[in-house]
Amino acid sequence: MANNITRDDASNLDRTLRPQTWEEYVGQEKIKENLRILLTAAKERGHAAEHILLYGPPGLGKTTLANLVSKTLGTNMKITSGPAIERVGDLAAILTNLSPGDVLFIDEIHRLSKSIEEVLYPAMESGVLDIIIGKGPSARTVQLELPPFTMVAATTRISLLSSPLRSRFSGGTFRLEFYSDDEIATILTRSAELLGMSPTQELVAKIAKRCRATPRTANYLLKRCRDLAQLEGGELTNAIVEKTFDLLEIDSLGLGKPDRAVLEVIIHKFNGGPVGLNTIAAATGEEPSTIEDVIEPYLIRHGLLERTPRGRTASPDAYGHISISNE
Ligand SMILES: Nc1ncnc2c1ncn2[C@@H]1O[C@H](COP(=O)(O)OP(=O)(O)OP(=O)(O)O)[C@@H](O)[C@H]1O
Ligand SMILES: [Mg+2]
Repeated sequence: MANNITRDDASNLDRTLRPQTWEEYVGQEKIKENLRILLTAAKERGHAAEHILLYGPPGLGKTTLANLVSKTLGTNMKITSGPAIERVGDLAAILTNLSPGDVLFIDEIHRLSKSIEEVLYPAMESGVLDIIIGKGPSARTVQLELPPFTMVAATTRISLLSSPLRSRFSGGTFRLEFYSDDEIATILTRSAELLGMSPTQELVAKIAKRCRATPRTANYLLKRCRDLAQLEGGELTNAIVEKTFDLLEIDSLGLGKPDRAVLEVIIHKFNGGPVGLNTIAAATGEEPSTIEDVIEPYLIRHGLLERTPRGRTASPDAYGHISISNE
């Protein structure tokens, strides 16, 4: 039996479902158009494309876009992340090992340390690396010429980036938007096909409504529906989809337990707010960064929560929704 087990874990499926072409990458039309022009022009001139910054909530397709950029340029992509670059030497090793035209993808760029950032500035701007050799009075700077490269950076927290760093993304800074229900339905239809499923349009639309307008969550829900369908006879039916939502405790707006917990704390414990982020974090047991990066963006976009200078407040819609889901 064990011999028949194939890799089908989440990361593997994530890769299977990840769009491989611009046509498969649904939505974000403005970003796609801008990137197409930027990349095609650079390629025609025979230059490395300028550096690109992508930001937005998790699961909206930043890593996927970075992959498409390198595919379009026809060069290799080296992948690293802010927390992975601990020392200046780590960054120097990465940069000096690039081939001309390569894409360097730095995920979670907001987690780069200040000292690394400072080495990155000249590398991004003039393609040189300043390395300090020695210590004290005898220390001297050696300048290394780097191969031309394109940096693509991604972050969920643009506000944490210093303005000198932001300004060096001369190719553009792009904010990924939440997806419309129709766009999610298109993504789900393709994913279902890749997973060997053929759900009706109604069921696809139903799943699309509950994914917080996020492709990764849409694919996740589809896979969970597939699991349950398999255990209960094979067909994906309305009952299976409903039961999957129940099991995962996802409500009619697509909110999960952590989302509702935030709204409930604001409404029940703090009279609707305003209440500070750290207080909400302490009361819900979530990290402040999780609340800011993952939970809040969708609540805000759905008009359930507002950020005010004095803290977060719950909207009348949030009251309506929480009282309904508690009945
Ligand atoms: N525009 C899209 N069209 C189709 N599928 C998409 C699109 N964007 C994302 N996906 C799907 O969602 C998954 C998650 O996307 P991706 O990993 O690129 O998100 P991300 O923005 O990098 O998230 P994180 O901030 O968590 O790193 C992809 O594997 C892909 O299957
Ligand atoms: Mg990513």
